[in-house]
Amino acid sequence: MAYILGIDIGTSGTKTVLFSENGTSEASSTHEYPLYTPQNGYAEQNAEDWWHAVVESIKDVLAESSVNPAEIKGIGLSGQMHGLVMLDADNKVIRKSIIWCDQRTAKEVDELNAKVGHDKLIEITANPAITGFTAAKILWVRNNEPENYEKCRHILLPKDYIRFMLTGEYATEVSDASGMQLLDIPKRDWSDEVLQKLNIDKALLAKVYESPDITGEISAKVASLTGLKAGTPVVGGAGDNAAAAIGTGVVEDGKAFTTIGSSGVVFAHTSKISIDKGGRVHTFCCAVPGAWHVMGVTQSAGLSLKWFRDNLCWGEMETALIMGVDPYYLTDKAAEKVPIGANNLMYLPYLNGERTPHLDPNARGVFFGLSSMHKKNDMIRAIMEGVAYSMRDCAEVMREMGISVSDMMACGGGGSSALWRQMLADLYGCPVKTTLNKEGPALGVALLAAVGTGIYKSVPEACNAVIKPERVQEPIADNIPEYEKVYALYKRLYPAMKGMFAELAQL
Ligand code: XUL
Repeated sequence: MAYILGIDIGTSGTKTVLFSENGTSEASSTHEYPLYTPQNGYAEQNAEDWWHAVVESIKDVLAESSVNPAEIKGIGLSGQMHGLVMLDADNKVIRKSIIWCDQRTAKEVDELNAKVGHDKLIEITANPAITGFTAAKILWVRNNEPENYEKCRHILLPKDYIRFMLTGEYATEVSDASGMQLLDIPKRDWSDEVLQKLNIDKALLAKVYESPDITGEISAKVASLTGLKAGTPVVGGAGDNAAAAIGTGVVEDGKAFTTIGSSGVVFAHTSKISIDKGGRVHTFCCAVPGAWHVMGVTQSAGLSLKWFRDNLCWGEMETALIMGVDPYYLTDKAAEKVPIGANNLMYLPYLNGERTPHLDPNARGVFFGLSSMHKKNDMIRAIMEGVAYSMRDCAEVMREMGISVSDMMACGGGGSSALWRQMLADLYGCPVKTTLNKEGPALGVALLAAVGTGIYKSVPEACNAVIKPERVQEPIADNIPEYEKVYALYKRLYPAMKGMFAELAQL
């Protein structure tokens, strides 16, 4: 039996999972680390914390399983996208990493538009200038910490910094590099034009591979530190969403997944590149060589329900503790008692601004139609529906782009709610499924390692062998027109309030 290792460098922690070649999890370990918020809107992490978590979690899985490290045929890396890691001439980390959710770069977004041009950016990088993407962060360091920029010799993404530590190679792969806003997405390589216009030296950037390609091998030093075998191949891997796509079998046209985690993602595979001229959804290279994906993001999906739970559901939290159940089990039960439309109560999930489809940092959450007849149950239902309408907004943009979805997987914490999955099935008009294997991104990159090292011939072949659907929620015909009525009104709320959100931000 051959084994494969998947390492996912997430925002709250690093999860390392050892799988057998048929996708069975043999051992798993997660190590957490802090997120630093030195100012409002800033988000930073220590790259050394990621490295420490990776080393410890590798040691844990090797200790927990009886697998001989020589039987581990390959390693795949996944991670949070967009983060900026800068190394000096001695390969020392120069400053804390500015990570994906950091919002400090409004001025640099203007600089990107002025230097490259809004339309040109969408044409080459397939996305409008975005505060969270890496290019704006690089410009911020150059503008605000010139001494740090001066010292910088290598720019790496979070998981690629880990690759460097494991193998000594400066390498990245197309899916994660897509989120740097420096990659020519149709050509799947760095854009000389964007780099030249921004005056960023290409020598600072890593070599770009396809996701299953072997990018390096475990060094002797790391072997003695972790117990892995020196020479074990490390493949390109993928950004967290592209990795989750492999881990849920979303590797062919017509297939997509919806994640309801803190944020929400609708991700669709496409073998033909498709770019939204309005920049409402991201188009990135995907981890299947030669293919792309289109991705819509709802900033506050599960976060909306968590916000409501933490601030207004103390009673439910206590009851859940006594009953020994998850508080979301109770919020689900509460929402189930309320009919579609939440008794004419609607919720816009824009607590922290919105990416798809509005790209508006000023948008804020709204309960619309609140009446003295409403109870907490109605509000919970309205929140869950509001998030589902916002995911439908993402799917609508994709439909306009000619990407049709016939097979939808559900993942993330919210994806485990049967009620939420039913709402999605009714709003998408297609079955919504979960998979038996819950390891998502870690499994996805382990499968990329299995492909890169020849265990499977292709990514679809690996997914067919390993990924098994579990539960299926079919759309309920009677529900569809009910949701459509509410969704039609939901769609009109943001345009009516857009100007007022901007005014609110100025108060
Ligand atoms: C993708 C994105 C997040 C991060 C963190 O564009 O911002 O999914 O990768 O998970």
